[in-house]
Amino acid sequence: MKPDTSDPEIVRIFDRLACGRRSIRGFLNQPVAQEILERIFETAASSPSNCNTQPWYSYVVSGEMRDKLSGIFMQTIGQGNYAFDFPYDPKYEGIFRQRQLDVGLLLYKALGVTREDKEGKRQAFLRNLEFFDAPHVVFIFMPQWCGIREACDVGMYAQNLMLTMHAHGIASCPQTILGYDADSVRRELDIDVGMKLLFGISFGYEDPDLPENRIVPERATLAETVRFYS
Ligand SMILES: Cc1cc2nc3c(=O)[nH]c(=O)nc-3n(C[C@H](O)[C@H](O)[C@H](O)COP(=O)(O)O)c2cc1C
Repeated sequence: MKPDTSDPEIVRIFDRLACGRRSIRGFLNQPVAQEILERIFETAASSPSNCNTQPWYSYVVSGEMRDKLSGIFMQTIGQGNYAFDFPYDPKYEGIFRQRQLDVGLLLYKALGVTREDKEGKRQAFLRNLEFFDAPHVVFIFMPQWCGIREACDVGMYAQNLMLTMHAHGIASCPQTILGYDADSVRRELDIDVGMKLLFGISFGYEDPDLPENRIVPERATLAETVRFYS
């Protein structure tokens, strides 16, 4: 299918989709129908990749297994016991640190968590491990041989996935935190040790009543991130 990309209607709809997607941190208890799930993952797989290697692997978890993994994460990640495939210890500096602080402030303000409120911050962290009540979570893996270029392929796939979900009215939140206990995910889902976990994405229908779902993190200006040459 070759869309006519010069069609202003397509441009308008795509802008709305790309700019309207947000990380959502509160979901309704309403599962997504299996045929919609399959359609979404099929569309996401149209992503580009180096040499068309398609190094992405999605493991979609719902129902009892979802609850079980959430419980395990509370005992492992929630207690500070991590088993990463890809270490994450960000010490952002300068503008990157500022952006990290800004989005944190925005989220804590929406949640009513103050700067000194350590317990509030911990509860906000733990919400990640409850998948923000989402009925589904997808764990995104790639084979062990993959390097940074293949990880870029997987990132493109993940964005396609979230945009396709958004087109279907399904909200999502990508979560690095869900990659903090890769061993348990592999064990529970019977995934080969040669597959490595990058992150998870909680998804489902958004709870529209939650203030944390109304935050809109700012983006840098065009001049800060793009240069045009001729
Ligand atoms: C790979 C990746 C991992 C992320 N991990 C987390 C996470 O663990 N927990 C969380 O609440 N948000 C997480 N986020 C969401 C970011 O905070 C969010 O994308 C950013 O603040 C921009 O907001 P937006 O997605 O609403 O546009 C993650 C985003 C990406 C792309």
